[in-house]
Amino acid sequence: VLAIWHQLTKTEITELTKGSVMMRERSRVEDTIYAMQKAGPGSLQVISDFDMTLTRFAHKGKRLPTTHNILNNRLLINEDSTKKMKELLNTYYPIEIDPSLSLAEKLPYMVTWWTEVHELLIQQRIRKDMLARVVRESSAMLREGYRVFFDCLAEHRVPLLIFSAGVGDVLEEVIRQNDVFHPNLHIISNYMDFDHTGVLQAFKGQLIHSYNKRDVTLSHATALRELHGRPNVLLLGDSLGDLNMADGVSEAQNILTVGFLNDQVEERKESYINSFDIVLLKDETMDIPNVILRHIV
Ligand code: TMP
Ligand code: MG
Repeated sequence: VLAIWHQLTKTEITELTKGSVMMRERSRVEDTIYAMQKAGPGSLQVISDFDMTLTRFAHKGKRLPTTHNILNNRLLINEDSTKKMKELLNTYYPIEIDPSLSLAEKLPYMVTWWTEVHELLIQQRIRKDMLARVVRESSAMLREGYRVFFDCLAEHRVPLLIFSAGVGDVLEEVIRQNDVFHPNLHIISNYMDFDHTGVLQAFKGQLIHSYNKRDVTLSHATALRELHGRPNVLLLGDSLGDLNMADGVSEAQNILTVGFLNDQVEERKESYINSFDIVLLKDETMDIPNVILRHIV
């Protein structure tokens, strides 16, 4: 009897019983983690969003900036533009997270938001050599436990694909300044194109916003060949749009999705629980992703 009891409880991952962890189907989560454990780190890849997923949403009651908002700094842009960028944020962020609007309804607003902000940044002739300084002076922080997360993946040679609708140059600088820019890192994001004097003149490639990650991942399929042969995916995000980040993974076997629900928690809880396998409510740490990794690698 004891042996059977032991077998039954073996699959319980105690950290998942914390009050801030919600799951639609706990047994499926645990089965997926054990299937991934069986296959080992050689079969695993991690795909993560950046802003408000790898970075903290708030600290000591204060909201922390996304990569775009790090650029909203008087060192880079004039006073009118800082106001304009804040107005755009106040107009479009509520639309981005509004649970009563469909994806199709949100899409055109997202395109407008990103396009207007990028045009504003180009018009302000942002200088490449100022980026490290604005990142250093910003209040942006990676989530608590980030070092264990990045180091563990690097040590076990598990590729980490960061898939961000933020600004690639800025997110790279955040990662670099936190000393976790390891060789297993792949990044898809909006990258800046500077002229020969180091002044921003355009953004490279297809615009990435929070709700077109499916199109973007499909168009990067060839570049992501290195990730082939890794059918198990741990996906981390904070937006429902992040769920599409794994759509380009060919022959996926097990996909476990973790959603950080940072804002408008009560209003969005139900849709998050219906969409992500694990939902973390106002959790500013990497504890749960780290627990999952500890079971797999
Ligand atoms: P992510 O895909 O890395 O999370 O980045 C996108 C986030 O950036 C998304 O939640 C909206 C946010 N954002 C701003 O905070 N300010 C801006 O000016 C823009 C265009 C986006
Ligand atoms: Mg995000």
